[in-house]
Amino acid sequence: MTELKNDRFLKALLREPVDRTPIWMMRQAGRYLPEYRASRATAGSFMDLCMNADFACEVTMQPLERYPLDAAILFSDILTIPDAMDLGLYFETGEGPKFKKVVRTEADVDALPIVNTASDLSYVTKAVSTIRHELNGRVPLIGFSGSPWTLATYMVEGGSSKDFRHVKAMMYNQPEVMHRMLDKLALSVIDYLNAQIMAGAQAVQIFDTWGGVLSHAAYQEFSLKYMQQIVDGLIREHEGRRVPVILFTKGAGQWLESMANTGCDALGIDWTTDLGNARARVGSKVALQGNMDPSVLYASPKRIREEVASILASYGHGTGQVFNLGHGIHQFVDPEHAKAFIEAVVELSPQYHK
Ligand code: CP3
Repeated sequence: MTELKNDRFLKALLREPVDRTPIWMMRQAGRYLPEYRASRATAGSFMDLCMNADFACEVTMQPLERYPLDAAILFSDILTIPDAMDLGLYFETGEGPKFKKVVRTEADVDALPIVNTASDLSYVTKAVSTIRHELNGRVPLIGFSGSPWTLATYMVEGGSSKDFRHVKAMMYNQPEVMHRMLDKLALSVIDYLNAQIMAGAQAVQIFDTWGGVLSHAAYQEFSLKYMQQIVDGLIREHEGRRVPVILFTKGAGQWLESMANTGCDALGIDWTTDLGNARARVGSKVALQGNMDPSVLYASPKRIREEVASILASYGHGTGQVFNLGHGIHQFVDPEHAKAFIEAVVELSPQYHK
């Protein structure tokens, strides 16, 4: 394997010394980039980009060509798993993801297969190895998956939701059925992430976008428990290096301690939590990734730089921070503003590592 030329992202995740704070952006390959929109038009659709390794590789590289980012993230989607469970994922313009089949009854749950990545999702592992080859050691590659709970919300609701009424009704009325579904998803995610690691992913992130809509007790029982099962089942060392695991639950400010106790390496933090406070609570156990409000990128480059400065100051001196947004970059952001953001981190962070 080619030697990694820039490993400050992996080092910061393991809280080893770095020269400056590494940075990447959730959803860094996406619609805010005109070159992404051009590739999608050529490929035909979003899923055509995901399913063709050359297109997936092309769009993964696009933000790296523009900005001094410290990591690449596999171009794919969390909903590949439910699609591989035969639910029929499709995207309608302007409406987000939808499924042809929904999971609403005990019989629906029992009919769900556990995903076998090698046979059902080989297009994803092929994309991983193609991207690794193209990166040629430039920066590490992040693999990812949705959390079981977040995947279940889409599978039960049939798409995006505001009130989560079907999935929450299932959780409260038939908790054992919900647990059976989450267990199948956890086993599928373990197989999927381990296959990504074996194909060359050098860190993995679990996106629990909707864990924050749960009650305090339900979060532990229906979301965190299954992320714990995944952390326990993952390959943690590959190619002679530790493969760090990042857990990101949006809206989890009050649960950081229990998340840090899973044995993951880092937590993704959204902007509703103060980074300095998070560090004081869990910073001796895990690295922290985040946490600028993505909407700051609508403000002027000067204002963006001020916000970067204040987040760096809030975390303070020393390693253990990966700079990121607190959620994915929005589609209407000006790419020049993303540039100002990333450059501010590059320029302002070295003083915190002397
Ligand atoms: O970060 C990256 O650049 C890697 C690619 C990536 C995508 N989706 C590409 C994508 C990643 C890591 C995801 C994760 C994902 N997908 C999540 C978790 C993270 C989050 O943002 O909360 C979720 C909930 C999904 C499900 C999903 N996929 C939705 C709700 C949508 C439609 C709405 C939206 O935000 O775009 C998608 C489609 C999608 N996934 C697009 C991209 C670039 C847009 C498709 C397009 O129109 O080109």
